[in-house]
Amino acid sequence: MKIDNVCIIGGSGFVGKHIANLLTTQEIGIRIPTRRRERAKELLVLPTADVVEANVHEDAELDRLLVGMDAVINLVGVLHGDFSAVHVELPRKIVAACNRNGITRLLHMSALNAGADRPSAYLRSKGEGEKIVMTTGLTTTIFRPSVIFGPGDSSLSLFARLARLPVLLLASPDAKFQPVFVEDVARAFAASLSAPHTFGQRYDLCGPECYSLRQLVEYAGQVTGHNPAIIGLNNSLSYLEASVMEFLPGKLMTRDNYHSMKVDSVCGCGGPNKLAEVWGIRPTALEEVAPLYLANRMPRERYDRYRHRAGR
Ligand SMILES: NC(=O)c1ccc[n+]([C@@H]2O[C@H](COP(=O)([O-])OP(=O)(O)OC[C@H]3O[C@@H](n4cnc5c(N)ncnc54)[C@H](OP(=O)(O)O)[C@@H]3O)[C@@H](O)[C@H]2O)c1
Repeated sequence: MKIDNVCIIGGSGFVGKHIANLLTTQEIGIRIPTRRRERAKELLVLPTADVVEANVHEDAELDRLLVGMDAVINLVGVLHGDFSAVHVELPRKIVAACNRNGITRLLHMSALNAGADRPSAYLRSKGEGEKIVMTTGLTTTIFRPSVIFGPGDSSLSLFARLARLPVLLLASPDAKFQPVFVEDVARAFAASLSAPHTFGQRYDLCGPECYSLRQLVEYAGQVTGHNPAIIGLNNSLSYLEASVMEFLPGKLMTRDNYHSMKVDSVCGCGGPNKLAEVWGIRPTALEEVAPLYLANRMPRERYDRYRHRAGR
């Protein structure tokens, strides 16, 4: 299967930008829809990128986006809001649009622990989305990462900002994660596009090590020179904090996020790793790259933050 042109739906986000950068270096043509072109400004300079303002929930717009494409990557996801529209109905529409336009290759981003019997609506909706894209006759590959870190992330960067507080009341401090580097995720996507051994497969993606949420916040603080007093909340207080935060601007946490964290987001903690097994990628450790971007050594990061604050 030769892939020259790819439509990256959700390509204007954190992971999408890294995948777009990588595909561009391989001279693959990419089309990236966004609701606001302004948000995807840094993609405009990529030589093979076509950034298009579009409403991907409209069939006619999807048809327009898929003209001339050989494959679709779907990265659209939300942590709060209408999970059904974004994680279930949109994949259904994308699959139908692929079928209408003769596209057979689909790479779909899900999340680790996605499934019908999960404690959060986020994970259940991601599980439903997986079922839809897997039972279509398309050649699909599904990626299920733990939390993803790297320049432009919203997890580690948020922890670093929170670590500036003198005292931090931390919900779900013992929740476990096995963070995976965004460049490793991007390489796995790029390498899968035309690799037959990945067709019809579903991969859990994790980094080399596991950390509790408390350890991640402590680490982000340490890297940025802050040492807040972290008070871990028990389950009821964590739920209470999430209930309050869900009504504050920015929704740093919701009750659904709290429910997601009841299931450890890990895949083996130091055991065999799919990145190495499937694509020969050595999983990058958090400590190898996080100091480079958390401590603001990458000027681009500061601009990302200013843009985020300005709502652009
Ligand atoms: N980041 C992580 O740690 C992590 C971990 C596990 C799984 N994932 C999954 O990986 C995928 C990418 O994550 P990310 O961190 O790159 O997300 P992100 O930065 O928030 O980007 C989300 C993308 O989806 C688009 N989008 C959001 N809501 C939409 C809606 N209602 N309708 C249409 N488009 C919408 C945005 O496009 P606009 O330009 O239009 O805003 C943006 O391109 C998601 O599916 C996420 O669930 C991420």
